[in-house]
Amino acid sequence: MSVQNILAFEKAGQIIEKYGYNRAKLIPILQEIQNEYRYLPEELMVYVATMLGTTSSHVYGVASFYSHFTLKLKGKYVVRVCDGTACHVKKSTRLLEAVRAHLRLAEDQNTTPDFLFTVETVACLGTCGRAPAMSINGEVYGLLTDETAVAVIRDIQDKEQASHE
Ligand code: FES
Repeated sequence: MSVQNILAFEKAGQIIEKYGYNRAKLIPILQEIQNEYRYLPEELMVYVATMLGTTSSHVYGVASFYSHFTLKLKGKYVVRVCDGTACHVKKSTRLLEAVRAHLRLAEDQNTTPDFLFTVETVACLGTCGRAPAMSINGEVYGLLTDETAVAVIRDIQDKEQASHE
């Protein structure tokens, strides 16, 4: 087991302890674990099940039922390009392709290999009057063109690069 795994289990243990090992609190427990690690790794779900005295299939069932739980590691920045009707009419498909091409995502890929970006689509961001729109970690950008959408991504990449220099 890697040092990282031991630390992950330790944090999860603290969260479970905080909820008094209460099986009825499974959803908030999973939510806090996901907030900590950005997703729910399989080994942690097994660990949660053991600590709560339930089966891993029960924990997995709950985690996969609710769409806000994610079982696969996503990028640090989750880009959601809106594909609702208003955005679709304003060529959101092209915008999505521009973002994906800029990030060099292969057809079957949603996350960059460095786990910096995940690109998804969403039904509506609630800002139809500013279509086409996308959000990045919940912050919404509207009235986008392919160029301005890519510029937002490039800005983040520059900041990330600068923080590592
Ligand atoms: S359809 Fe895109 S914001 Fe509503």
